[in-house]
Amino acid sequence: MIRKEKDYFILDTDHTTYCFRVLPTGQLEHLYYGRKLHIEDEADMQPLVEKHVFAPGNVNLYNEEQKAYSLEDMRLEMSSYGKGDIREPFVEVVNANGSNTIDFVYKEAEITKGKEAFAELPGSYGSEEEVEQLCIRLADEGNELALELYYYVYPSCDIISRSAKFYNNGKKAVQLKRLMSLQLDFDGHDYAFTTFHGAWAREMKRSDMPVIAGKLVNASYTGTTSSRANSFVMLSRPKTTEDAGECFGFHLIYSGNHYEAAEVNSFGKMRLVTGINPQAFSYEVVPEESFQAPEAVMAYAEKGFNQMSQRLHHFIREHIIRGTWQKKERPILLNSWEASYFDISEKKLLKLAKEAKEVGIELFVMDDGWFGERMDDSSSLGDWEANAKKLPGGLKGLSDKIRGLGLQFGIWVEPEMVNVKSKLYVAHPDWTIEIPGQPHSEGRNQRILDLGRREVQDYIIESMSKVFSSADISYVKWDMNRTFSDYYSTALPPERQGEVAHRYVLGLYRCMKELTERFPEILFEGCAAGGNRFDLGILCYFPQIWGSDDTDALCRAEIEENYSYGYPLSAVSAHVSACPNHQTLRNTPLETRFQVACFGSFGYECNLCDMKKEENEAMKEQIALYKKWRKVLQQGTFYRGRSFYDGAQSGMGGSVLADEAGNQMEWTCVSEDGTKAVGMLMQKLVVPNMQQQTYYPKGLLPDVRYHFYNRKLKYNIKEFGDLVNTVSPVHIKQDSLTHQVLSKLVKMDGETEDFHAYGDTLMYGGVHVSPAFGGTGYNDKVRHYPDFASRLYFMDGEVKK
Ligand code: DGJ
Repeated sequence: MIRKEKDYFILDTDHTTYCFRVLPTGQLEHLYYGRKLHIEDEADMQPLVEKHVFAPGNVNLYNEEQKAYSLEDMRLEMSSYGKGDIREPFVEVVNANGSNTIDFVYKEAEITKGKEAFAELPGSYGSEEEVEQLCIRLADEGNELALELYYYVYPSCDIISRSAKFYNNGKKAVQLKRLMSLQLDFDGHDYAFTTFHGAWAREMKRSDMPVIAGKLVNASYTGTTSSRANSFVMLSRPKTTEDAGECFGFHLIYSGNHYEAAEVNSFGKMRLVTGINPQAFSYEVVPEESFQAPEAVMAYAEKGFNQMSQRLHHFIREHIIRGTWQKKERPILLNSWEASYFDISEKKLLKLAKEAKEVGIELFVMDDGWFGERMDDSSSLGDWEANAKKLPGGLKGLSDKIRGLGLQFGIWVEPEMVNVKSKLYVAHPDWTIEIPGQPHSEGRNQRILDLGRREVQDYIIESMSKVFSSADISYVKWDMNRTFSDYYSTALPPERQGEVAHRYVLGLYRCMKELTERFPEILFEGCAAGGNRFDLGILCYFPQIWGSDDTDALCRAEIEENYSYGYPLSAVSAHVSACPNHQTLRNTPLETRFQVACFGSFGYECNLCDMKKEENEAMKEQIALYKKWRKVLQQGTFYRGRSFYDGAQSGMGGSVLADEAGNQMEWTCVSEDGTKAVGMLMQKLVVPNMQQQTYYPKGLLPDVRYHFYNRKLKYNIKEFGDLVNTVSPVHIKQDSLTHQVLSKLVKMDGETEDFHAYGDTLMYGGVHVSPAFGGTGYNDKVRHYPDFASRLYFMDGEVKK
């Protein structure tokens, strides 16, 4: 609920409060954001107001009437340079007279209900019952500028999102150098700033950095959200854990260059800003025109990171993701990429699809390599016609045959790109982002189409529409495989070159909007060389995104866990692949690969035709199991427990004790009504002679009795090497033919977990699972638990009559 009490504004969600007031000088003083407060009128807010009697030394006063304070020592809702505040500004403008001093002061406010999904940029959406809006209008009359600050309050989600719009009401053009989406001033500076940095195949590495003094910046200049620095960031109080302590999460609904900075000033006040990256950005705003900043999302939680993530997950599923697939269970797919890379043909694909059908896959996806003369990554992007040698019957011929097998059919495209070796580049050499007459810095042999140009957007929309309607296509993987270099558009004059990156994002959004509206039934999946463009902007159009090209289960567990801080499980697609893994050459058990992947939008990406029979059989069982628990995993509430990251946090990584920080990963996903749950326990490395381990589920109903069980597995005796001789009456040489034959006939039984107990006992006492193999004996009561092993546990609540 949004209220205005005299000069005070109070924004309440079910469990949080945000408030600010208008200062006597007209700027907006931020007062509070945190757990819900009892506020009846403005008198109740007096403790929140800073008392200023004499201004601090060596500061500039805003004006002669208010000698008690300087803007440098105030918490502000938005700020700019030139009138005393010298911190990260919210807005920067070069005025028509060349000065860059601006001064926005309060004019009026408007409260309305409901929010549209798409305006100039994609954003959150909600009905009149779900969301209220506050628009604060500010003006700089001297420079003839105006600014609107928007606050969108989603009470039942405990989320507030923000945005801003800049207007030029003057007679001459001005250069907008930055317009942030969110500014949040805190009066303390004992916070950690958490970012998720990385690279290709190494996305989402978490870092917690104390913000003590100066400035910490998380930003991208790749033209995309970037795998180098995701735009989701967090702030937390010292000692905040998964289940206790205060923290904040911040998203930007944007898919281009972004910027998040946390700065502590000389008076110990901390400021957070998020928005479009001002680096090399400038936008010419001509008279009577405006500039819209993307929307930013804020979540506060007083009960730790799990509560914050759950608030965000709920909000993203209800008010960001939209369309046919918003709440629909996602199909289990097989993607052809790691099975055959560019070397595809109808014959090969059909062989693979037959195996896929056999194990229970629902959707077959043909990845890269199907169009133009595409034999490798050096040609044909832009020429979206099926290669007749590889696919003699075209897309339609293949899709009909795949459908005939009882599978859905999906394809890969990379619409934003062109190879120089293509018909498209020959026809339109000026359609790319490159500087005419200068050498170009290449990436993956391809160039980026200038999506700021209307005719390029139209080409993408029409060429993709032709592809998507040429066959029975249920799924599209929309890839984007290079980062920007040589920013330049031949369609813009020199003084507008600072607009190229942002205009690209706007053009991309138009293409995505048009195509998802034309093909509402298609399940679109975003991808950018893995997780190079993972953000809420993409999720406004595509309900899921490929999280990383790294399918190694150990790396993936960390990548998925770190995405989960800001994104719901269903938004992150995750696949089981072959071993040795193609990115790390590491071997991990097939079961672990499955168990890690099933905590995302699930699929396989390996050559089923070449796998061992027992592996295919195992996959068949995995798929059947996943189908049973899919709803819980894709739509349930996710809880993180112990983590590989714990070691990094406590400085105890590498400890010799199994239950010590950093060796265990523990996840639980609970159905909406709390009666069903799936848990996973995974370890990095075996700790010898450390048999006892405990799994602590979370989120169960304390007073409901659950059936707790695992899946009974069998293990190949080869996994025990020449230990087979400790039980064999005759000597068996390891890896000999006899060993081989025996391994086909004899399997070792895995352990069983099977009992009933109340939710509170399971959660608070923990489940002391069967002992792990500790070098002193093995039977069906012992957990076969080598390096990188994991277990799934299932909890079925007894519904009371
Ligand atoms: C990068 C993606 O992340 C991969 O999954 C695959 O689709 C390749 N591109 C294809 O070129």
